[in-house]
Amino acid sequence: MFLETAMGVNMSIGNVEKRVGEVLEKLNELSTERSLKLWNHIEVIWLLSGKKAQFNYYIKRLRSIVNEVIQKKMQDEDLKELRRDESVIANDGYDSKRRAFLDILLTQTDLNEKEIRDEVNTFLVAATRTTTNTLTAIFTVLGIYQDVQRKVYQEIVDVVGVEGEIRPEHLQRLEYTERVIKETLRVFPAVGMFSRYVAEDIDLGNNVKIEKGASAAVPVVYMHRCDKFWTDAMKFNPDRFLPGTSSRHPYTYLPFSQGPRNCIGGRYVTMLMKVVVALAIRPLKVFSEYKSIEEISLKLGILVRMTDGPKVWFQRRVS
Ligand code: HEM
Repeated sequence: MFLETAMGVNMSIGNVEKRVGEVLEKLNELSTERSLKLWNHIEVIWLLSGKKAQFNYYIKRLRSIVNEVIQKKMQDEDLKELRRDESVIANDGYDSKRRAFLDILLTQTDLNEKEIRDEVNTFLVAATRTTTNTLTAIFTVLGIYQDVQRKVYQEIVDVVGVEGEIRPEHLQRLEYTERVIKETLRVFPAVGMFSRYVAEDIDLGNNVKIEKGASAAVPVVYMHRCDKFWTDAMKFNPDRFLPGTSSRHPYTYLPFSQGPRNCIGGRYVTMLMKVVVALAIRPLKVFSEYKSIEEISLKLGILVRMTDGPKVWFQRRVS
C-alpha cells in the first residue's frame, strides 16, 4: 500500500515489497544490535564480528532497490506528462491531479538525485515495518478481546455497511476503531525507543544530570506500560482515549514521537490501518491463541516485535 499510494509505484515490479521487507528486517536487527550492545560501539569489534560487512551488504541492497524504484518512476509516462505540464508545477502546490509523494519529489523540488534517494530511503525504512508490526498487533488484540472486535465490527458495519467501498469520509467516523488503534499503539508501540543528541547540559534534579554531547534514549514502550502514568497499564482499554477522560501529561504517549522530528506519517497511517482493519473485519473473524496482552513477550529493539509472533487465525463470517 505504501509503495502504491506514497511512492506511486506499481507493486508488480520485481517483487519489490518482499525484497524491501527482508532487507529492512535485517537492517533493523543489525542497527538494534549496534545501538543497544555497548561493545558493538567499538569499531574494531563491530568489524571483526562480521556485522559491519553484513550491515553494508544490506544497505547496498536497499540502495539498489531504491534506485530501481526511482528508475521505474522516471520512465513512467504519467510522470513525463507531469513534467511537461508547467501549469501544474507552477500553481500554489495544490493541483487537481492526485500525486504520489515520489512524483512530487521528482517534479517539484530542486533535490538532486542523491537527496531524492535519501528521502525515499528514509520513507521506506520509516513507513513499512512500523505499519506491518502495528497491524499485526491490532489483529492480535482483536483476536484476544472478542468484545472489542465485536464493537469494531459493529461500528464498521454501521458506518460503511456490510459491503461496498470504504471512502475517506467514512474513516473519520470510525471513532471506536481509532481508539483501538491508539490503545494498540500504546501497548505495542512499533518504535520502541528513539534517541536524541543532547545539545546542552540538562539537570533533571535529584542529582541526575545529562551531559551535553550524550545520546538520550526515550524508552517509549516502558513509558506506555508504566503504572505511574496509566491506570491499570496492562489492561487493554480503548476508552482511555475518549476525549476529556485523561489528565496525563501528553508526552507520556509517544507512538509517533513529538517535536520537530516526529513522524510525518501518523495521520496517513491511521487512515491506512482503518482501511485494512475494515476490509479484513467485515468478512472475517479473527482469533488469537493468546489470552491477554501480558502473555505476549516482546522482542525489544528500535522496532518492537512479538517474540513468538501474533498467533492469530481468521475465519470467514457466516451471514
Ligand atoms: C504505525 C506506523 C508508524 C509508527 C508507529 C511510526 C513512528 C515513528 C516515530 C516514533 C518516528 C520518530 C523517530 C524519532 O523520533 O527518532 C517516526 C519518524 C518518521 N516517520 Fe513514522 N511511523 C509510522 C508510519 C510512518 C509512515 C506510514 C510514514 C510515511 C508515510 C512515516 C514517515 C516517517 C518519517 C519520514 C519519519 C522521520 C521524520 C524525521 O526524521 O524528520 N512513518 N515515525
